[in-house]
Amino acid sequence: PVPGNGDDASRGFWSSRLAFILAATGSAVGLGNIWKFPYVTGENGGGAFVIVYLICIAVIGVPIMMAEVFLGRNGRHNPITSMRLVAERNLKSPAWRVSAVVGMLAAFIILSFYSVIGGWSASYVEHALVGDFAGGTADSINAIFSDLLASPIQLLIWHTVFMALVVLVVSRGLKGGLERVATILMPTLLVLLLVAVGYAMTTGHFGEAVSFLFKPDFSALTFNAVLIALGHAFFTLSLGMAVMMAYGSYLRRDISIGRTAISVAFMDTAVALLAGLAIFPVVFSFGLEASAGPGLIFQTLPLAFGNIPMGWLFGTLFFILLLFAAWTSAISLLEPVVEWVEEKTSLARAGSTIVVGVLCWALGIASILSLNVWSDVTPLGMFERFEGKTIFDLLDFFTANVMLPLSGLLTALFVGWAVAKESLKLDLALDGTAFTLWYNAIRYVTPVAVLVVFAYNLLA
Ligand code: PHE
Ligand code: NA
Repeated sequence: PVPGNGDDASRGFWSSRLAFILAATGSAVGLGNIWKFPYVTGENGGGAFVIVYLICIAVIGVPIMMAEVFLGRNGRHNPITSMRLVAERNLKSPAWRVSAVVGMLAAFIILSFYSVIGGWSASYVEHALVGDFAGGTADSINAIFSDLLASPIQLLIWHTVFMALVVLVVSRGLKGGLERVATILMPTLLVLLLVAVGYAMTTGHFGEAVSFLFKPDFSALTFNAVLIALGHAFFTLSLGMAVMMAYGSYLRRDISIGRTAISVAFMDTAVALLAGLAIFPVVFSFGLEASAGPGLIFQTLPLAFGNIPMGWLFGTLFFILLLFAAWTSAISLLEPVVEWVEEKTSLARAGSTIVVGVLCWALGIASILSLNVWSDVTPLGMFERFEGKTIFDLLDFFTANVMLPLSGLLTALFVGWAVAKESLKLDLALDGTAFTLWYNAIRYVTPVAVLVVFAYNLLA
């Protein structure tokens, strides 16, 4: 028998390696891939940014993902308890678990506004379906977006719909919820994405998009772009939020963490690049700007969808794709906190999910109001660097620039320096060279890189 597969079996395991890969990919593939990656690439000049991003994924992202999955599987509890157990087994201070505490708090906060943006995707499925983009001009399309953001009621309705979808799945637990949804949605998402790329190939501007994404112009690369690439590598792989620990806690001991993490990172990267290949040809064929920023998906693309044959169909499919991607990611953001409440209180799965879901939904209202009624409320406005930042902006800033790097840094230090090498070797199941590369990455490269970003973001 494989050690560990028997203990505490009641909490369940993913049914297979593939089930874990699909669920973890469901977490990784999200708004980050389809909404954020194309626009940050556009803003940062294309090819050279993509190369730096790929390096960050390989050298920092994958090693941290392995570390997080290791911690979850070794502890087989919610992320906080898992870290404490691993620390105790290695005769180290249980205080290391602060890393999971920070990560889980970040997951909770991020979910509160991720759900608001997930709600935008849901509302855009409706807009595309009923033909609201048809024959649209830049002004009419922009008006759809600004009307949505200006309406607390519309935002609240869609935020509520989205959060309800998330709670529904998580409340059904591992096999009937997380695993079932991932095995249905992820293959569907991939098919939809390939359809979108197929369409993009017919625009006559596919080659332009390929060279934009893959022809590096290093003169356009700034230090700031490197920092953005690193931050995005973290976000896109769902790291620093205890998510991979929670998912790893259901992984059987006989599955190689090394190969599995590489598969997930590969899928996430492939989806980001395919999203770029689906979006940029359409953008270029309308002579629109690649550097449109956050509006790229909600303003630029609908303009294109409104003016192509069968645009309502492609538009609808595209926003369903975005919605599915956001949904499986949001599920993974809720899971760690629910796992913790379930283990720490007398509440069962469904009750824990509803309690955490409702609290997170309520916090989301602050982000909704920041977009309209409270757009002038800037709680830290007295500090120059936070001038003009709404509550939404601040939640985003502190999670992305403080909490995620802090949690990631502590995780890397803990796994790299406090956990016994033998136990890592056994669990990661990497061959000699691969293990040495990983071990050096987690001990030296990752902490240094994260510290640099951390310091720069806070001080500069
Ligand atoms: N990885 C997701 C994305 O790219 C975001 C996310 C982060 C989801 C953390 C879950 C946890 O959109
Ligand atoms: Na991602």
